[in-house]
Amino acid sequence: MKNIFPDEGFLSLENYELLLNQKAKVLWLTGLSGSGKSTIAKSVEHMLYELGYVVKVLDGDNIRTGISNNLGFDLEDRQENIRRISEVAKLFVQTGIITICSFVSPTVQIRQKAKEIIGPKNFKEIFINTSLEVCEARDVKGLYKKAREGKIKNFTGISSPFEAPIDPDLMVDTENNSIEKSTLDILNLLIKSNEL
Ligand code: ADX
Repeated sequence: MKNIFPDEGFLSLENYELLLNQKAKVLWLTGLSGSGKSTIAKSVEHMLYELGYVVKVLDGDNIRTGISNNLGFDLEDRQENIRRISEVAKLFVQTGIITICSFVSPTVQIRQKAKEIIGPKNFKEIFINTSLEVCEARDVKGLYKKAREGKIKNFTGISSPFEAPIDPDLMVDTENNSIEKSTLDILNLLIKSNEL
């Protein structure tokens, strides 16, 4: 094993993957606000943890309150938000960690940029496909109501676009499937590509 350790310089991804006995990657969850991204992210995190994997979830709770707390929701700020998240995710991946990113990331171009920064090899695009009607009916945070009343500007799906992924690695149908089924579908994606 000694020969894979560089004599000088920093440790590599290979070192970390060997230490953690896992393959690093980003699971990029995209979908409307209220689509269930964070619920599914948590469920996948818990299941992978129980199976012995090291996982980190990045979502609005730990990103928009911290590193992106000076950003809003116009297209330029969303681009910057996703750029920062992608750079952070890349650092986690370089440390061998399975990183789940749960963000609206509303346009094809924004997600393409994320994939470029993280590296296409380590990037799985997962579309949490819940219709606007269902997200709006759930309105967990009451934001759709406010957006309809014009109290929130640039709200995704109402006054700002959401472009569904064209060819995602996986599409999760939350309207017809349980959280457990969606979680297993995501794990299966990794198993199928021999990454778990
Ligand atoms: S992204 O477009 O930059 O990827 P991000 O996922 O970080 O968005 O944040 C989305 C969350 O912020 C939503 O789930 C919602 O709770 C909240 N939010 C507040 N204002 C908006 C808005 N104008 N559009 C979408 N989400 C908003």
